[in-house]
Amino acid sequence: MGRMSGTDRPYDLVLFGATGFVGTLTARYLAAHAPRDLRWAVAGRDPGRLERLRESLPGGADVGVLRADAAEPATLRALAEHARVVATTVGPYVRYGEDLVAACADTGADYLDLTGEPEFVDLMYVRHDARARETGARLVHACGFDSVPHDLGVYFTVRQLPEGVPLTVDGYVSVDAAFSGGTLASALTQVARGRRMLAAARERARHEPRLPDRRVRAVAGAPRFAGEVGAWALPLPTLDPQIVRRSARALERYGPDFRYRHHAAVRRLPVALGGIAAVGAAAAAAQLPPARRWLSDRLKPGDGPSEQKRARSWFTVRFVGEGGGRRVYTEVAGGDPGYDETAKMFAEAALCLAFDDLPPSAGQVTTAQAMGDALTERLCAAGITFRVAARR
Ligand SMILES: NC(=O)c1ccc[n+]([C@@H]2O[C@H](COP(=O)([O-])OP(=O)(O)OC[C@H]3O[C@@H](n4cnc5c(N)ncnc54)[C@H](OP(=O)(O)O)[C@@H]3O)[C@@H](O)[C@H]2O)c1
Repeated sequence: MGRMSGTDRPYDLVLFGATGFVGTLTARYLAAHAPRDLRWAVAGRDPGRLERLRESLPGGADVGVLRADAAEPATLRALAEHARVVATTVGPYVRYGEDLVAACADTGADYLDLTGEPEFVDLMYVRHDARARETGARLVHACGFDSVPHDLGVYFTVRQLPEGVPLTVDGYVSVDAAFSGGTLASALTQVARGRRMLAAARERARHEPRLPDRRVRAVAGAPRFAGEVGAWALPLPTLDPQIVRRSARALERYGPDFRYRHHAAVRRLPVALGGIAAVGAAAAAAQLPPARRWLSDRLKPGDGPSEQKRARSWFTVRFVGEGGGRRVYTEVAGGDPGYDETAKMFAEAALCLAFDDLPPSAGQVTTAQAMGDALTERLCAAGITFRVAARR
């Protein structure tokens, strides 16, 4: 592996897409919370907007500005060559993301993003994991609400249970929040690409080595009333189970036979049925280009929930883990999941890659695999709760 030393590139961290909704929140978080000696830059396609962003940041005079465009691979290569860690918010990633992953894999820069797009993650594994292993680059997708609380929450739960035995974990996600134009654009892109998503998953399965002596499964759980959390559990077909599965494959601590089921938790049955109907209708409509355009016009790129709305938003993920005759109830909780807490998770993950003493890893890795304990500690210190609620 050829990981570069700490000072051989001008920046510890470059934030690409810094002028977008989450990008701006992340830049503000870094300006307020990063160590004073962090060498960092904001990057994007519009130098004027980047300058204005920099001027608005406390201590902004020390922040660099780099111009790069997702449509110009040479500018992305320059970003990767100038940074130890590159964090990007430029999505939909399946449309804009690959050239930067390739540049980081090739130059040995660590990469992280906010994707929730399974097709993108699978294609990046097939195309860039091998090169990243050669250069020592860590490619970490899904470093926001997709999928940090779920990945690290399962990691935290597993470590409350006995070692070396079969384990099962159920996750129940509850949120009260609104979403941004960027998230809507990514969700609509994904819904319209269902077949390509399945093809990418098959291609990944052909490339991924088999686990010789362990079994790992992670799925969206079936609908049912979950007495253990007192709520209706609905299948939640997000990227999260795929990420948990990859962590369980990578880490022996998840035991010889591991199963995870991912759900949305809803207290009242009418809300549960309404939710299923609304998601089904939106997904069906998004298959038709005119309806997709109409939906995407509802929220423009750069738009997102107001500070007041975000201040009222929250998330809770409850986990029930079992194995070796023990049962544990755990919880991960915080404020506005999609934006304030996503910016916090993203910035802390970037700082964690840049500065913390982590277990060796390279190639496409998960947050639990690359940064488990260190990132959990950082998030607890930053106000996100990880706790054991009960043991049986
Ligand atoms: N994992 C999670 O939980 C989570 C949470 C929130 C968001 N997200 C994802 O994060 C991404 C960003 O969301 P957002 O709400 O911040 O979106 P946004 O406000 O639309 O921001 C998108 C950013 O991408 C930039 N961009 C677009 N095309 C570009 C190009 N050709 N070259 C360079 N930059 C380009 C935009 O630059 P300009 O400013 O110049 O337009 C902007 O900075 C989305 O994919 C969303 O799904 C994930």
